[in-house]
Amino acid sequence: MTSNKPQDDAPETPSENGGEAAAEASDIEGLIAEARMLLTHRESPDPDTFEDPLDFIREDHARQLRMCNLLDAFTEKLELEPVMPLASALLDYVTGDLPLHTQDEEQDLRPALEERCEPEDGVADVLKQMSKEHELNRDLVSFLIDDLEALADGRTLSNPVRLLMNMKEFSETQRQHVTWEERVMLPLARQRLTAEDLAKIGRNMAARRKDGEAEAE
Ligand SMILES: [Fe+2]
Ligand SMILES: [Fe+2]
Repeated sequence: MTSNKPQDDAPETPSENGGEAAAEASDIEGLIAEARMLLTHRESPDPDTFEDPLDFIREDHARQLRMCNLLDAFTEKLELEPVMPLASALLDYVTGDLPLHTQDEEQDLRPALEERCEPEDGVADVLKQMSKEHELNRDLVSFLIDDLEALADGRTLSNPVRLLMNMKEFSETQRQHVTWEERVMLPLARQRLTAEDLAKIGRNMAARRKDGEAEAE
């Protein structure tokens, strides 16, 4: 009589390794979906109810740090496949929400900190470092733009590894910058800025985004 029981000594099916590869592929799909969500243009705050612009900046930082981790995962193997479906969203982000964030810090936080900080805060050095790092970040973004535009247009890159290495560099530099701002600059702003300062910064940040939306229409 023939048994229907599975046999203990049955040979392993070839799907075992294939299963791992499939799981890895679905992990990457999940990460790509998460990245798309993170890269989506952030809704403008309502100027009438926008009370804490520092929280808005901190939320941007949390998003930037998560993005850096995802970019690391996408570029880890120096393969272009996971980056291709994100090229257009990444391009929008590095030319849209990211420069808006930098403008918030340079055009609104900077003058408020200059006005409110005490001599012992060493604010001149803090602001000097902030601007130096923003300049470096802008340079790194400029190295990404042509390649991301090409990918977004469906063109082939002559040197895909260059884009992947530049993305790694951007992610590492951005992570250090955000971590420093969270540790040094935002606590200083939280300590020294008044409620009126925050209200003014909030109005400017909301207006900056409304202007951008009006231009895009
Ligand atoms: Fe910054
Ligand atoms: Fe920042």
